[in-house]
Amino acid sequence: MPATPVTVAPPADLASRLMQIGQGHVFAAYERLNQEERASLIAQVRGIDLDAVPELVESYVKRKPGFALPPDVRPAPYYPNDSKSPVRAWDRGAADAKGRELINAGRVACFTVAGGQGTRLGYDGPKGCYPAGAVTRKPLFQMFAEQILAWSKRSGRIVPWYIMTSPLNHDATIAFMNEHGYFGLSREAVMCFPQGVLPSFDMATGRMLIASPSEIATNPDGHGGSITALHKSGAIADMKRRGITTLSYFQVDNATVRVIDPVFIGLHASAPDSSAEMSSKMIPKAYAEEKLGLFCSCSGRTEVIEYSDLPMELQREREPDGSLRFLAGSIAVHVMGVEFVERLATDAKFSLPFHRAEKKVACVDPATGARVEPTMANCVKLERFVFDALPMCRASIVYETDRVEEFAPIKNASGTDSPDSCTKLQTERAARWLKSVGVDVARNEAGEPECVLEIDPATALEPADLKNAKLPTKIERGAKLVI
Ligand code: UTP
Repeated sequence: MPATPVTVAPPADLASRLMQIGQGHVFAAYERLNQEERASLIAQVRGIDLDAVPELVESYVKRKPGFALPPDVRPAPYYPNDSKSPVRAWDRGAADAKGRELINAGRVACFTVAGGQGTRLGYDGPKGCYPAGAVTRKPLFQMFAEQILAWSKRSGRIVPWYIMTSPLNHDATIAFMNEHGYFGLSREAVMCFPQGVLPSFDMATGRMLIASPSEIATNPDGHGGSITALHKSGAIADMKRRGITTLSYFQVDNATVRVIDPVFIGLHASAPDSSAEMSSKMIPKAYAEEKLGLFCSCSGRTEVIEYSDLPMELQREREPDGSLRFLAGSIAVHVMGVEFVERLATDAKFSLPFHRAEKKVACVDPATGARVEPTMANCVKLERFVFDALPMCRASIVYETDRVEEFAPIKNASGTDSPDSCTKLQTERAARWLKSVGVDVARNEAGEPECVLEIDPATALEPADLKNAKLPTKIERGAKLVI
């Protein structure tokens, strides 16, 4: 489209459309802007789906959509971590072999969602740059890159890595990757692409918040925005060109995630009750009130219901053996079929629902241009969640994993899911792997390792790899060690 000529008055078509939908304030400061700022504001407004705004405001900003609990909600079945479990026995060896076959045939790529704003952590920069290695303090991106590199070496195949950023952190992510030489990965094997954004709305009025006189405040459209972004960015086309059929999906803040898990990939691809469209990993919830979304089955479809939406009396229900009935907590690790993602992204009838979050967002008063620093939530942010694609699958399986093995998220600056808890979990996992090959790790009376440990992905991607490594026989109290 040819650029709109930048005139003293805002373009009439846009100005009148904004007025019609109650968003006329967007051009309040237009006349005071310079040429460049005007052009940038016009381009931003043209990039927003203005026709969708009134409905969003009515349904999600002025009202809080309620959650209708499906009447037949029950816990989703899952493949237990112990494949010999009497609850459900399955063939781990066959799943592992199938997964490795796909990896070795170059059919598997990694996909990281890294477009979030990371407001809880309060880190200045993309979260993937956060120094998370327990000992080395290597950044999260490096922790994943090194695993991908190790898988590439093992399979003799390029394992492409797709990273979804947002317009707010895309340039910083690319600059970081360049600065670090893509952590040894081939530049051609890594594709970073930004997700979409949505306007952030004033909670009281439903008007789009103004970030500066020449900019509407926006927020990334949620990890669910990945479905559209994978398609629009050309990532899906790139996957098809490379013969990729299967995406290993994980979040940027989970330091111990297995970026590729052959067993999980194999189950997704070949379990009799899997459609190979989208599968999920779960961990057993530690206690009923734990804030994890829950895998449920509703009318035969697998769904994640947020902990805040599932009534607490259901979350507290127990089986006769004392275990929680709704046990399967989501850790946002999935395997997705490329065809499935493409189908969703190109189907005009498909859209993921929005979720509403109330946030405190600094902005400017459109009339006066004065800066507003709110003291309480003033903004409604709308996001899509990727797990809402699960019920769109013909069938979708859930696989149990272990918290210590692969769930060490960094969400908060301190306390739960923080850099500290992440370091402890990395150490605990390393100690466990070392014990499995006969290395003794000093522990205190509470059973916690009295050291800090980190396993280099070049040494081991799974415990069995340690059998070939040169290891100490004992790790003493106070040690800080990279294995
Ligand atoms: P979170 O829900 O933890 O959100 O994202 P966040 O934005 O990173 O952090 P807070 O809530 O502001 O503190 C979970 C994962 O989804 C990605 C994040 O980067 C993280 O990997 N994500 C989230 C996106 O890629 N895009 C989004 O719009 C939101």
